[in-house]
Amino acid sequence: MQAILLVGGLGTRLRPLTLTTPKQMLPVLHRPMLEYAVSGLARHGVDRVVLALGYHDDAFRAAYPDGRCAGVELCCVVEPEPLDTAGAIRFAFEASGMDASAGTFLVANGDVITDLDVGEMLRLHRSAGAEATIHLIAVDDPFRYGVVVTDPGGRVSAFVEKPPGPRSPSSWINAGTYLMEPSVIGRIDAGRRVSVEREVFPAMVADGALWALRQNTYWVDVGTPQAYLRAQLDLLDGRRGPAAAGVSAEASVDAEAVIERSVVMAGAVVGAGSVVRGSAVHSGAVIEAGATVLDSVVGSGATVGRGARVADGTLIGERFTVAAGADLSDARVP
Ligand code: GDD
Ligand code: MG
Repeated sequence: MQAILLVGGLGTRLRPLTLTTPKQMLPVLHRPMLEYAVSGLARHGVDRVVLALGYHDDAFRAAYPDGRCAGVELCCVVEPEPLDTAGAIRFAFEASGMDASAGTFLVANGDVITDLDVGEMLRLHRSAGAEATIHLIAVDDPFRYGVVVTDPGGRVSAFVEKPPGPRSPSSWINAGTYLMEPSVIGRIDAGRRVSVEREVFPAMVADGALWALRQNTYWVDVGTPQAYLRAQLDLLDGRRGPAAAGVSAEASVDAEAVIERSVVMAGAVVGAGSVVRGSAVHSGAVIEAGATVLDSVVGSGATVGRGARVADGTLIGERFTVAAGADLSDARVP
């Protein structure tokens, strides 16, 4: 089966990290986020992944020059301008040479890390004769997502993207993985911005053609600073697979530094008396002596000066410096 991975968004909520690196190329533990998505699909029989690119497409090509990732063939297509989620699906389908003979294909939001069982989804898709089937999970804060209501058999009766509060019709949300028949492409206008969540799915609901599978498996949308950190801490804590090591063997950590529940990547330097907790320190970053980093991300090659304190979801952009003694909370540098 072929898959289209939507990776062309601007990653606005992860700025300034995404000013220099597209969201799906940011590291999660010690590998780019993209590789989790691609290897997850590969485990479920996907043998070709089309990357629907826009922003910073060069970073993907540079990382996978031989056109392979996690054992899967990658095909890169670049929209002339951002076409939104459905526009991107149509563009990727056509530009990568897929056609009606491709049969059922998969589409996924590239910023989702999940252990979804695609096989179970495919069984529902086939038995229901669905034109498209979407994966649902239950969350406490459905307003931030696409909210989905189904009948007992799984047919979708309402799809409401980011509903205004205070009451949500359901706690089940669109988890960002879809199975689609090629006929869905015909529902998407060419050459303009079209949202799959705001236009295409509601139209399919009206036709009774959209189905959904509830599967509460491991799932995180890595689009916010908190979720980006949580995805990594989940791997460290063993909440997803065996507990992983957080500190790279190629990082240099002073014996007098304290590192707790954190990721410290290759080439990073952590000085004496500093404390790093619940955070990610990217490759080549420097945490100078006596500095404190709490629940924050220090981008590649960035520096946290002596005695500085960065906390509460602060993001420090690639190669930027936090001055010695500074005190930052929930800040963006720059
Ligand atoms: N190629 C391309 N072109 N990709 C795009 C574009 C575009 O114009 N716009 C967004 N994307 C990609 C993003 O890179 C991301 O991987 C994916 O589409 C979804 O965009 P987000 O910006 O992350 O959307 P969201 O997280 O607010 O909401 C979406 O995901 C939720 C689940 O994580 C929606 O699909 C919601 O319905 C869903 O609940
Ligand atoms: Mg997202």
